[in-house]
Amino acid sequence: MLCNDQQNYFLWVLQVGLALKKLFEEGVVKREDLFITSQLWCGHHAPEDVPEALGDSLNDLQLEYLDLYLIQLPFRVKKGTNIGNAENYIPPDIPATWGAMEKLHDAGKARAIGVSNFSSKKLGDLLSVARIPAAVNQVECHPGWQQSKLHTFCQSTGVHLSAYSPLSSPGSKWMNGKVLKDPIVISVAEKLGKTPAQVALRWNIQMGHGVLPKSVSEERIKQNLDVNDWSIPDDLLAKFSEIKQVRLLTCDFIVNPDSVYKTLDEFWDGEI
Ligand code: A2P
Repeated sequence: MLCNDQQNYFLWVLQVGLALKKLFEEGVVKREDLFITSQLWCGHHAPEDVPEALGDSLNDLQLEYLDLYLIQLPFRVKKGTNIGNAENYIPPDIPATWGAMEKLHDAGKARAIGVSNFSSKKLGDLLSVARIPAAVNQVECHPGWQQSKLHTFCQSTGVHLSAYSPLSSPGSKWMNGKVLKDPIVISVAEKLGKTPAQVALRWNIQMGHGVLPKSVSEERIKQNLDVNDWSIPDDLLAKFSEIKQVRLLTCDFIVNPDSVYKTLDEFWDGEI
């Protein structure tokens, strides 16, 4: 049986597929003008399951190809099970899963392939065996969790760091939106005549990261797009190093003393 979150997720994906179809048919936007990413769930890591998982996503989204397909987590559960019960956790075999991802890239079904929630070490291990290097590592990144080590590692290896929860996800059950209340972010915003959200997004852009802010509000979507023709000057940018660093999405639900990752330190390889 699906948990509510999964059911909601499937409904949401189908709605996105319907919306995309309508927009393409009405000529509002062309497929090639969009950049569409999806992720491989941790129950589909077996190499033989990877093409089927991508196929299901393409069917749900009514698309022929994805621009980017990511391994969502360096973590695996038995097929058909979910996160929550450590008995279902099995060691991931990232090189094998990556081999299947590479074949999807070869076939043109995923124009780029990458990972998500990988530490510098896990990303380095993957790069050392990959035929096609990961294009992207999508991770939590905002002024309150700046990913300094991963940022440097990605820069030196040519992997693009893409920031999820760039506003620290106010209102989510996992995170707290603390970045929008941070005194340094607020004072920079006041000096520049911008909102704290715009400053948080602009910080990621100036770090060279992609940013993925979520909003259902037209006004906030417009505000979040208005971050390209101004910049945070160096003296104010330097202030961000004073912000206390706390990883908000620790993935503690993955860690179990009887399972693959016994501590958060093991899961994040010390980047916690
Ligand atoms: P809403 O969808 O009602 O606009 P993140 O991208 O870090 O995951 O954060 C998403 C959350 O941040 C959503 O709850 C969203 O609410 C809120 N949000 C998005 N843009 C802004 C903004 N410009 N100012 C304040 N909150 C925002």
